[in-house]
Amino acid sequence: MIEVPLWQSRFVVPGAAVELFLAELEDTGISVAAFEEARDGGADGALWRIELMHRGEPDQQELAARLAPLAERSGLDRIDLTIAPLAATDWLARVAESFTPRRIGRFWVHGSHLRAAPPTGTVAIELDAGLAFGSGEHESTRGCLLALDDLARRRRFRRVLDVGCGSGILAIAAARCWPAAVLAVDNDQGAVAVAAANARRNDAERVRTAHSDGYRSREVRAGAPYDLILANILADPLCDMARDLARHLAPGGTAILAGLFDKQAPRVIGVHGAAGLRLRARLDLGIWTTLVVTKRRRTPDAATRGPGPPAPGRLRPHDPAADRGSEECGAGGAAASVATRRSGAWR
Ligand SMILES: C[S@@+](CC[C@H](N)C(=O)[O-])C[C@H]1O[C@@H](n2cnc3c(N)ncnc32)[C@H](O)[C@@H]1O
Repeated sequence: MIEVPLWQSRFVVPGAAVELFLAELEDTGISVAAFEEARDGGADGALWRIELMHRGEPDQQELAARLAPLAERSGLDRIDLTIAPLAATDWLARVAESFTPRRIGRFWVHGSHLRAAPPTGTVAIELDAGLAFGSGEHESTRGCLLALDDLARRRRFRRVLDVGCGSGILAIAAARCWPAAVLAVDNDQGAVAVAAANARRNDAERVRTAHSDGYRSREVRAGAPYDLILANILADPLCDMARDLARHLAPGGTAILAGLFDKQAPRVIGVHGAAGLRLRARLDLGIWTTLVVTKRRRTPDAATRGPGPPAPGRLRPHDPAADRGSEECGAGGAAASVATRRSGAWR
């Protein structure tokens, strides 16, 4: 049972403005999401409804002041803002609604209210996300699960860290792929509790949870180095934490980065390249991008040998011409072994 009073604010913008509003409002309220409205067939194309969820009633004037410059940048005369309390029953219904079971790679992600037998050959993950992010419906989570699915075909990991675990979905998925010790951390105490409950629900006893702001906790430091780090956060915190990530990753280790828009990818790749992480794969789902990066092995040999051949498995060599300008790996240099996947396919 969710006891906090939830409020929702919403307004409609043209499709061209959605990315700006999502990016600028990402730290407003508990969550921000965009939903395509019915096409009106007008010259401007589809309209999108932006919904913000708030713990408690938001300050209307403050919110309007936040939206005004964004409207101006988008060439909008005005924004009609609606603010209303969200009944707990509405919220629970929405959670259940968005929790239709879904197959993502090998994973079958379903809410605890649906316990039908999973399709043969799938790995079931049962979740109650509550207010924590991560039921698999979001492209950034989906991208991470697909990256995990892909890595599980050809790699084994022993120590995994999930930074910004939300519901714990990625940590649980990782524990299902490998007999690894998995540490799931979040800076939201509520999410940590939800992740712990979900780990128990899935008998994922190798998943431990802890409160941590990024890498700044005793638990995270004690568990390092990790050979796999999962971080589905947002572009700015990812960039802020790039050096911490590099420090906590073992040489040759892999990280999955998500929560960024495709347009933010060059910056995120560049910052991680400068921290010594090389882009290995990229997946674009809608406007959301997932990156797989690896830390160099610190052998003198490796330093002079260059990026080396593509990793075996499903990831294929990157064709720079197909993705010009988006694979600047900072100090990492050429992207000879980068694989990219657009619209659901690794390339
Ligand atoms: C987009 S959700 C991802 C949840 C889940 N890992 C998934 O893939 O669906 C991002 C999560 O990161 C957490 N977060 C944001 N900044 C953080 C930070 N500095 N340290 C730890 N967690 C953070 C948020 O509380 C939220 O639960």
